[in-house]
Amino acid sequence: MDKIWYITGASKGLGLALVNKLLEKGYKVAATSRSRSALEKAVGSRNEENFLSLEVDLTNPSSVAASIKATYDKFGKLDVVVNNAGYGIGGALEELSDNEIEQSFDVNLYGTINVIKGVLPYFRKAKAGYLMNISSMFGFYSGYGWSVYSSTKFAVTGLSEGLARDLAPLGIKVTTIAPGGFRTNFLGDSAVFPSANIIDDYNGIHKAQEEIIATLAGKQPGNPEKAAEVMIMLADHPNPPVHLCLGSDSYHLAKDKIKTFDTELEEWKEISFSTDFKD
Ligand SMILES: NC(=O)c1ccc[n+]([C@@H]2O[C@H](COP(=O)([O-])OP(=O)(O)OC[C@H]3O[C@@H](n4cnc5c(N)ncnc54)[C@H](OP(=O)(O)O)[C@@H]3O)[C@@H](O)[C@H]2O)c1
Repeated sequence: MDKIWYITGASKGLGLALVNKLLEKGYKVAATSRSRSALEKAVGSRNEENFLSLEVDLTNPSSVAASIKATYDKFGKLDVVVNNAGYGIGGALEELSDNEIEQSFDVNLYGTINVIKGVLPYFRKAKAGYLMNISSMFGFYSGYGWSVYSSTKFAVTGLSEGLARDLAPLGIKVTTIAPGGFRTNFLGDSAVFPSANIIDDYNGIHKAQEEIIATLAGKQPGNPEKAAEVMIMLADHPNPPVHLCLGSDSYHLAKDKIKTFDTELEEWKEISFSTDFKD
């Protein structure tokens, strides 16, 4: 219980479930939200000693840096950082405005980068620390109609895998978590779809997305409470994985992708090898 946690995007969903579970168990937690009042309303505990609520613009490095400093000022140290804030953006690339695309990268990728850059000087000094970056099953397999969201999450996966290598010699651990469908606000108000430029050629995508919302929202297999328990277990694990799929749907999608990729690799092996110098 002596670990101090910092969790982004905590007023709803996975982040909120984790904050509440940690506070319940007696951990000290700093949590960020775009709205401090929404966060405080959502978090059940009123234990001022163990809980620091932070209103942060994750896309602004100064706002992030101030929140990390406030965490050290209050708790004296920080052990686990969970980059959880993020949202789904569906639709075909051409239908999404530049602004919609940039915003999704700002939050899903640059928000994560800002937090990591803010905390690493402290972690390096301590020669310890654990970064948990929430990617997605679509951070390994790009879903039909989710190419922009998937590209933000592939970036989080790639960043995490690289950091795991770079930071291991410094005593800092990294795990990227790929949730499957979890019962949160993800397919509700949080999701973004093209607002202006609907293109009929992509009706297949529109139909598939309407179907996903109609059949899956509120019925996703993933339980946020169980995800929170797993994240707490990981932080105590001596050798946490670099990649972790959460949910049977995420596991199966990853297995299918690996199988398809492996088949394609072997089918095209001769061509792959053909470009090497022969000397
Ligand atoms: N649920 C799923 O099926 C699923 C699947 C794969 C990956 N994920 C990932 O899991 C993470 C948590 O999502 P969730 O399922 O818990 O969804 P959620 O219930 O919608 O919660 C998402 C959290 O992210 C923050 N957020 C959302 N949009 C934001 C924006 N534009 N700017 C800044 N922060 C924003 C919010 O924080 P505040 O409102 O407190 O600021 C919110 O608390 C996300 O990174 C998501 O991509 C979820």
